[in-house]
Amino acid sequence: MKFFIDTANLAQIKEANDLGILDGVTTNPSLMAKEGIKGTEAIMNHYKTICEMVDGDISAEVLSTTFNEIVEEGKKLAAIHPNIVVKVPMIKEGIKAIKWFTDNGIKTNCTLVFSAGQAILAAKAGATYVSPFIGRIDDSGWDGVQLIAQIVNIYSIQGFKTEVLAASIRNPNHIIQCAEAGADVCTCPLEPILGLLKHPLTDIGLAKFLEDAKKM
Ligand code: G3P
Repeated sequence: MKFFIDTANLAQIKEANDLGILDGVTTNPSLMAKEGIKGTEAIMNHYKTICEMVDGDISAEVLSTTFNEIVEEGKKLAAIHPNIVVKVPMIKEGIKAIKWFTDNGIKTNCTLVFSAGQAILAAKAGATYVSPFIGRIDDSGWDGVQLIAQIVNIYSIQGFKTEVLAASIRNPNHIIQCAEAGADVCTCPLEPILGLLKHPLTDIGLAKFLEDAKKM
C-alpha cells in the first residue's frame, strides 16, 4: 500500500517525506485555504513547490464544475509538473472530463466518492485513482472501511486498473484497516501516520534496554 500525505502544509509534507516512506501528496481546496494560499499564481506555485519536494504523484484539485472549464483548468494544472494528478469531483461533468483526461494521457484522481456505484463510474472513465472518503462515511453512521473492501473486490473481479485511494483517514487504525481491505493507497494527515509508530511496550522496552546498556 502506498502512503500519501493529505495536506498542503509544507512542514508536515517535509516531516513525512524525511521518514522515507512517502509516495505522494493529496490536497484539496479546504487544505489549500487552511495554509492561506490565495490566487491562481500562488496556488500554481504551491503545487510546484510540493512537486519539487516529493518524488511521487501530487493531486491538485480543479475548482470548476463544467466539462470545458474542468478540462481547461486540468490542462493548466497538469502542465505544472509531470507528477501532477488532476483531482476531479464525482459529478456528471467530472466523469466526462476524467474520460477526456484519460484519452489525453493526463492522470486523474476522482474525489468525493461515497458509494461503489460512483467508484465503478470513475473506473469506467479510466481514473488513475478513486478516492472514497472513509472518515466522512463513518461520521454519517456508515462503514467506510467496508466500502474500501467492496470497491477493491469489484475492481478485482472486473479487472479495473483504477487504484483505490482511501481518503478522509482519521486515525492509525483506519490505515491498518485499509491495508487489510486491500487499498492501493492511503492518504492521511501526518498525525495518523506518526500514530503508527506508537506502542507503550516499545517505549518501556527501549527505556529498559537503555538502562541496562549502562551496565554493559
Ligand atoms: O483529501 C480529501 C479527504 O482526505 C478529506 O478528509 O478529514 O476532510 O474528511 P476530511
